[in-house]
Amino acid sequence: MLADKDRIFTNLYGYQPWNVDAAIMRGDWDNTKDLMARGQDAIIDVIKASGLRGRGGAGFPTGMKWSFMPKEPKPDRPSFLVINADESEPGSCKDREIIRHDPHKLIEGALIAGYAMRARAAYIYIRGEYIREAETLFAAVAEAYDRGFVGKNACGSGYDFDVFVHRGAGAYICGEETAMLESLEGKKGQPRLKPPFPAGAGLYGCPTTVNNVESIAVAPTILRRGAEWFSSFGRENNKGTKLFQISGHVDRPCVVEEAMSISFRELIEKHCGGIRGGWDNLLAVIPGGSSVPLVPAREIIDGPMDFDGLKAVGSGLGTAAVIVMDKSTDIVRAISRLSYFYKHESCGQCTPCREGTGWMWRVMERLRTGDADVSEIDTLHQVTKQVEGHTICALGDAAAWPIQGLIRHFRPELERRIRERGGDLAPMMEAAE
Ligand SMILES: Cc1cc2nc3c(=O)[nH]c(=O)nc-3n(C[C@H](O)[C@H](O)[C@H](O)COP(=O)(O)O)c2cc1C
Ligand code: SF4
Repeated sequence: MLADKDRIFTNLYGYQPWNVDAAIMRGDWDNTKDLMARGQDAIIDVIKASGLRGRGGAGFPTGMKWSFMPKEPKPDRPSFLVINADESEPGSCKDREIIRHDPHKLIEGALIAGYAMRARAAYIYIRGEYIREAETLFAAVAEAYDRGFVGKNACGSGYDFDVFVHRGAGAYICGEETAMLESLEGKKGQPRLKPPFPAGAGLYGCPTTVNNVESIAVAPTILRRGAEWFSSFGRENNKGTKLFQISGHVDRPCVVEEAMSISFRELIEKHCGGIRGGWDNLLAVIPGGSSVPLVPAREIIDGPMDFDGLKAVGSGLGTAAVIVMDKSTDIVRAISRLSYFYKHESCGQCTPCREGTGWMWRVMERLRTGDADVSEIDTLHQVTKQVEGHTICALGDAAAWPIQGLIRHFRPELERRIRERGGDLAPMMEAAE
């Protein structure tokens, strides 16, 4: 279990105030000027060496992402850092804890990351429903300006850096990085075709990096404690500490910082008081937020909770939003509800997603009640394959994968419902002939 001394987020539960004085007591804003004096490339090298991979879902190496930004921005094309605080993935609730209890970690991280990538300013795009969190964030940014930590000559470093907070209006798709840029520019939040990638042409057509809140908030501690310290947690390719968010059928749902690669069993036993009704009562787990395929109990129980471990069982770490389902769960209904979510949140730009998400949800609803033919299971699977990888953004994949996971692991359950409802007429008719 991760020792308290190795926790980055020491105020995750809000036992202490979030304000700047309490943050300074916790070690934030401590000689930030010295950290910056190490130089931009040196900061990027430390983040690369730490093995930090993006905490927003895709797991792209953070230091490498920063290194794509121009070394000498042109005066008429400043570089920007955009921080993704949209957090709308069902099950995800970690960035919220950082923002409401430890916002100065994020703001200091914004300055250091922004400086390293030679950005002029950071825009923090916060989900519209996070009303109190946004209030805290606005107040914390104001404190940072008052103390001279950001703004002109930030922390006395000679570097000018602004931090803006922008509230979203409640659309999941605005969490997709290019939709977020459109939304920040005041347009409808619809993803852009890539390339060009944001590092080439991002916000207002200028070089931009989009990073998740957690990816940015851990950066100052990594610089202070060293790349070796961070990479001592987890295993090769899966380094560091990570905020896990466990919801569903455990005794005590929680958000907790743990070492990457902890086993599922240890995570649940140590922090959540076990599975409701005991381990034999576990049915399945969605380990990385609603977009990743579910994993049946036997395949996850003793596996490592990290990028590679969950990929090996056909799923993904995503945002590490772990949704636990015991045997009381109507698994078909649960996945159908997620299908409805993706149908609702599709921005409608591409036909496979706009039409496919609605179609998939309608079939899922019929499979839920058993009002379908067994052959429709294969048809549904084929349609998920036609949506996956054929859309502008990954929302199409996110809608397809949970259904694929259901069919892969719970096909007998789907067939049972159809049989019990008497819907599987084809074989009976064949037999009669
Ligand atoms: C539909 C959709 C929704 C997304 N929502 C979020 C989100 O709420 N927060 C987030 O950090 N990343 C989200 N992402 C991923 C971002 O596009 C982007 O990869 C991420 O912010 C990069 O940050 P990282 O490199 O620090 O992980 C979403 C992606 C898609 C396709
Ligand atoms: S995949 Fe869906 S959400 Fe993404 S751009 Fe296409 S229609 Fe919009």
